Amino acid sequence: MQADEYQLNNQRIVIASDVNNLSRAAATQLIQHAREAIRHHGAFYLALSGGSTPVRLHETLALPVYQQQIEWDKVHIYFGDERNVPSDHPDSNYRMAQETLLTKVPIPSSQVHAMPTGCEEMQDCARRYAELLARLPQRHGKPCFDLILLGMGNDGHTASLFPQTTILAECDRSVAAVYVAKLSSWRVSLTYPVINLANAVMILVSGPAKAEMLYEVFNEAKHDYPIQRIHNEHLEWYVDTAAAARLIESDVGISG
Ligand code: 6PG
Repeated sequence: MQADEYQLNNQRIVIASDVNNLSRAAATQLIQHAREAIRHHGAFYLALSGGSTPVRLHETLALPVYQQQIEWDKVHIYFGDERNVPSDHPDSNYRMAQETLLTKVPIPSSQVHAMPTGCEEMQDCARRYAELLARLPQRHGKPCFDLILLGMGNDGHTASLFPQTTILAECDRSVAAVYVAKLSSWRVSLTYPVINLANAVMILVSGPAKAEMLYEVFNEAKHDYPIQRIHNEHLEWYVDTAAAARLIESDVGISG
């Protein structure tokens, strides 16, 4: 597997040669997190990311050689965020996860928990999901995921924590609804308190369009992008060389 590991700004960053090797490296690490969680408390509470980057990871996990390493009857799937569309809409993160992973592995459907959408008052959707998260192990009064998967937009957002939005200031609720003006749409998302509390967070970043932002994120002194406020003590980055191109060519201490 073509993937090398580095430490940068005290964060573990795995750089893979392409999105296939990125997904294999991430799948292998996810399986480790699942094994540890199931060994420790008999279940694996996982929040999936949306967007397009996770597709290849999902397809990799669905391959027999990977999926047979996970006790799917002990896995509980949640979502990091969701667009305000029906669950069968092409833009639905739930639909993407169903098509690329969840219909291909033996996970009980009762253990897959979509984020509610379409509420008259979108904060009601957030409240309903927060009530669902009460089933998870709790730490400091908040739900504690074993692993939260995240992506990164080229504006530095993650989940639906977009720049200049109200959700960035949410420091109490686990789930919140947020109107994203640049998208002219509502989103429901996990918040920083839950993300930073999780036992582990893996951020997957792929492709040349993310190279500039990834470089800026690791040159943290100058910026305050939403993704830079992820301060989980077990944060791991999984990126491909296309996304890491600016990092590699710069002097931040990563050799290609
Ligand atoms: C979403 C995601 C979002 C995503 C980034 C990256 O619902 O869109 O949660 O945070 O991870 O926008 O998206 P891509 O993987 O498509 O580049």
